[in-house]
Amino acid sequence: MSDTQTAAAESGSVELRGVSKSFGGVTVVDDLDLSVRPGEFLSLLGPSGCGKTTTLRMLAGFEQPDRGEVLISGAAVQHLPPHKRDINTVFQSYALFPHMTVAANIAYGLRQRRGVDRSQIRPRVAEALDMVRMTRFADRKPSQLSGGQQQRVALARALVNRPSVLLLDEPLGALDRKLREDMQVELKLLQGRLGTTFVFVTHDQEEALSMSDRIAVMLNGRIEQIADPYTVYERPATAFVAGFIGQQNFLPGTLAAGGRSVEIAGGTLQLAEPVTAPGAGAAVRAAVRPEAVGVAEKPPAEPANALPGTVAAVSLLGDVLQYLVHADSGQELLARVPRRQAGRLADGARVWCSWTPADVHVFPAEASTPAPIGSAA
Ligand SMILES: Nc1ncnc2c1ncn2[C@@H]1O[C@H](COP(=O)(O)OP(=O)(O)OP(=O)(O)O)[C@@H](O)[C@H]1O
Ligand SMILES: [Mg+2]
Repeated sequence: MSDTQTAAAESGSVELRGVSKSFGGVTVVDDLDLSVRPGEFLSLLGPSGCGKTTTLRMLAGFEQPDRGEVLISGAAVQHLPPHKRDINTVFQSYALFPHMTVAANIAYGLRQRRGVDRSQIRPRVAEALDMVRMTRFADRKPSQLSGGQQQRVALARALVNRPSVLLLDEPLGALDRKLREDMQVELKLLQGRLGTTFVFVTHDQEEALSMSDRIAVMLNGRIEQIADPYTVYERPATAFVAGFIGQQNFLPGTLAAGGRSVEIAGGTLQLAEPVTAPGAGAAVRAAVRPEAVGVAEKPPAEPANALPGTVAAVSLLGDVLQYLVHADSGQELLARVPRRQAGRLADGARVWCSWTPADVHVFPAEASTPAPIGSAA
């Protein structure tokens, strides 16, 4: 390392520069640039097959990029094997040794490592057990633990090496919902306390939104948008991001001259900010989130951004009510209303759906999106 000072300052940073990978002629990671700050919790989020695991495996050293550079803590590592990188990986399958105790599982990596002082193994294992609150299970075998407890052992086994960077590939995927939510909170607190850089792969958008400092939304081996959770949710850069994170009502229409409104079947959408691209007269898709749609029996005072229709279905989603409304103009609209504020609307009720100009996002019509529920397309 030529400049140790720079390296120290960047300890825990992760960078991919122009990284590509293909299998059998099919590009699965496509000229990817990614920069993760020391101590950051970054999620790679995207649909199945978009290249998340491949990206992580190239960071870890289990896969070689065809092109590009991988830097960890400021040093190029793409030619180094996994154990020579200042990095550890936690996989979805815990892969614990069944015949070893919890403590022996955690100690295993340290024992295999050169340069680890033998006398340090016991205190470091104790420290790792304490971090994941598993001290009292130290002498059990993995088969005597619940799924969440096994997951914590897998985490401790990675943390005991004190890596600057931890890579996690859907580590909570095998847990049931309640346990997963508890572990999300624990993991986030632990990460903040340790200051370890986390690169966390998930296809669960709620998990990414609740845990991450930033989210890189991937599609077809590329990053569609990288930003903090609020920005990704409130200001999606593409129609794909808009539809993949949370739900959207996509309304096809035509951009009016001046870019201040969109003509849709049955009405006009006023926009909070004028849209310059793709230009007046262009076919567009306006996106409105279900939670932005109000449902009322009376027409709103403002005729724009409102469609009359009929309630087709009502479902209770915990503390919100979801209405599926068939607009008279043909679109299907999803609306989510806090249960306590919702009126008693039943199937067949005649209603008006409305929303504010600030809740409308406009995308080019041809952009690729998964088919969202409530899409009129
Ligand atoms: N070793 C391999 N040989 C051939 N194709 C591969 C290999 N590894 C991955 N792929 C392909 O590369 C693409 C990306 O796979 P990857 O595992 O990175 O996706 P992912 O985003 O992690 O998806 P998931 O959410 O399903 O885990 C997929 O189409 C997959 O079939
Ligand atoms: Mg994967």
